[in-house]
Amino acid sequence: MPEIYRDDLLKDEHVVVTGGGTGLGRVMAMRAASLGAAVTICGRREEPLEKTVGDIREAGGKAEGLSCNVREAESVAAFFDEAEARQGPVTGLVNNAAANFLSASAELSPNGFDAIVKTNLYGSFYCTQQCGKRWIERGTPGVVLSIATTYAETGSAFVLPSAVSKAGIVAMTKSLAAEWGTYGIRLNCIAPGPFPTEGAWSRLVPDEEMAENMKRRVPLARFGEPHELGDLAIFLLSDGSSYLSGECIALDGGEVLAAGGQFNDFIKMPREGVLQVLAMMRG
Ligand code: HXC
Repeated sequence: MPEIYRDDLLKDEHVVVTGGGTGLGRVMAMRAASLGAAVTICGRREEPLEKTVGDIREAGGKAEGLSCNVREAESVAAFFDEAEARQGPVTGLVNNAAANFLSASAELSPNGFDAIVKTNLYGSFYCTQQCGKRWIERGTPGVVLSIATTYAETGSAFVLPSAVSKAGIVAMTKSLAAEWGTYGIRLNCIAPGPFPTEGAWSRLVPDEEMAENMKRRVPLARFGEPHELGDLAIFLLSDGSSYLSGECIALDGGEVLAAGGQFNDFIKMPREGVLQVLAMMRG
């Protein structure tokens, strides 16, 4: 894949990626490190953290991995203290750690709801607040990128706690873009459509048939490639997007828009057939 960014683009940055040991978090962490950032990743499990840190270092990058449960405010505060003790002041945050499972909302237990909302919404708030507080006190700028989802806007059946928590993350982003812009702090979201990662697919996509159906919903007729998310993430973390704040950018091959337009089903018909129907209607 050709690198579209200057190779020292993030050389003075220290970027934290929550959930950075696996999946899309790992992709963003490795990419930021390859462009010169010092990267600190966190997660609950040591093993993926060690693997990703090892891979980054092997490629010549700077990385640390620290275990942290983003659901716990104290754990998050201690994590940022340690991250800064090891690699200096944090300058960028990626709120990537997320939890999700398919469930019938009427059957969901309070603990089930908590497990997801606390990871996604509380976790993103705790991390964002830690960074904002430090940046405002120091008088230094900072950037936050949060991973939302396209159904944060539309809602979705069977993933209610994920939908409400991701909608909250988008509202947090917009609120803080207004509140903290004056301190030079920018916050944006990416709302990914379907990107097949082990973590998401094992919980959300039960079989190959469903995966194929999901693909058919995407106008570009394929799933997202991890590097495509990495490209946008790096843009949003870098000074390339220095006047962009409070936005949530869908990265979904057009999936959500295609689901909404009333006449979009014509696209599924052979083009000749569509043209005939249109000609008949015109009379
Ligand atoms: C209903 C469930 C459940 C399920 C767990 N619970 N799985 N309820 N259906 N499938 C309930 C449990 O019964 C329990 O409630 C409560 O949730 C907490 O479960 P625990 O296993 O004790 O919690 P924990 O170990 O913290 O696990 C949390 C988790 C787990 C969310 C269940 O999957 C996790 O940690 N996931 C993190 C990684 C992840 O989910 N990645 C995917 C994100 S992908 P009771 O009442 O029994 O105590 C993503 C992409 C979206 O978000 C876009 C896709 C297109």
